[in-house]
Amino acid sequence: MLGSVVLLRRLGTPTQTRRLLSLSAKSNKKVAVLGAAGGIGQPLSLLLKNNPMISSLALFDVVNTPGVAADLSHIETPAKVAGYQGNEQLQQCLEGCQLVLIPAGVPRKPGMTRDDLFNTNASIVRNLSEAAAKYCPKAIMGIITNPVNSTVPICSEVYKKAGVYDPARIFGVTTLDIVRSNTFVAELKGLDVATTSVPVIGGHSGITIIPLISQAQPPVSFSDEELEKLSDRIQNAGTEVVNAKAGAGSATLSMAFAAARFASSVLEALNGKAGVVECAYVRSDITEASYFANPILLGKNGLEKNLGFGKLSDYEQKLLTEAMGELKGNIAKGEEFVKGN
Ligand SMILES: NC(=O)c1ccc[n+]([C@@H]2O[C@H](COP(=O)([O-])OP(=O)(O)OC[C@H]3O[C@@H](n4cnc5c(N)ncnc54)[C@H](O)[C@@H]3O)[C@@H](O)[C@H]2O)c1
Repeated sequence: MLGSVVLLRRLGTPTQTRRLLSLSAKSNKKVAVLGAAGGIGQPLSLLLKNNPMISSLALFDVVNTPGVAADLSHIETPAKVAGYQGNEQLQQCLEGCQLVLIPAGVPRKPGMTRDDLFNTNASIVRNLSEAAAKYCPKAIMGIITNPVNSTVPICSEVYKKAGVYDPARIFGVTTLDIVRSNTFVAELKGLDVATTSVPVIGGHSGITIIPLISQAQPPVSFSDEELEKLSDRIQNAGTEVVNAKAGAGSATLSMAFAAARFASSVLEALNGKAGVVECAYVRSDITEASYFANPILLGKNGLEKNLGFGKLSDYEQKLLTEAMGELKGNIAKGEEFVKGN
């Protein structure tokens, strides 16, 4: 009770708090979530409804969006929520968007790799990308649907075919790998997780996920054995959740948090904030893989500068070498899927 009184005093009255929230950022962005009624889509849409930079939240799915939209629309924040269902409503959903997030598609069940999702999810991402290329070609695209290593090349190839490709605007959302790494390192070292930062590079599946513990801030040190165990846990953290959910899907709540953070960073940069950096999977010439995740400086047009990944430890260099074959194979599979259709 005392705690909440103190907190209320600090925040002011609820009305003052709401006014402060809406004044603290430009509320002028239209954001779409495609796959909004799903395990990720719903909590992600909730978090976006609470983002003061968003004035319009467009929710699309093949099922259940009217209910999700009606529910969220009662929340007392500025974003106006609209639900769209069925392909004939995609145009209305997408027109005028500055940011499109795609979590549409099936998640893993125990025993599956992300690549096992390719057959179902590749065509979902291709079809939604075709619509975005047509109705909001300048919007920033954030692809969450797995296998991200392949779905980002799929989206890019669709944009090339449509003649609207801008590699600075298409991102694979790998933020969850960073969120997990920050959490695990802070827990192991007793650090404040809010100020712990661990870059993660490469791709977004198994051995292609490469945490750079040597570049953690604040700096941390581990024995070789501890480092291997920690890196392995980060690479397989998604499977930890898949197994714990025992057939009921993969990470949804932590993923929604991660995607909402990515969205917030993109919107801040679009609004002109300087120095916004997130790790993300983008078109790249940093390594021999044509798509690669590492820290990216975001700006008014999406990717402003690829910051690369600096010096790796011997162990991280070994992980990178091991990842390359799989990553390049995943990229080629995505590109061929669009070219062959
Ligand atoms: N990038 C990451 O770090 C990360 C993390 C976790 C999960 N994922 C991936 O995100 C995706 C979604 O996971 P989930 O747990 O939310 O799954 P889910 O099955 O709970 O939800 C997916 C939603 O997509 C919708 N959908 C299917 N086809 C569609 C289409 N053509 N257009 C619009 N919507 C469509 C479904 O109706 C459903 O509501 C999966 O591919 C999963 O592997 C990515």
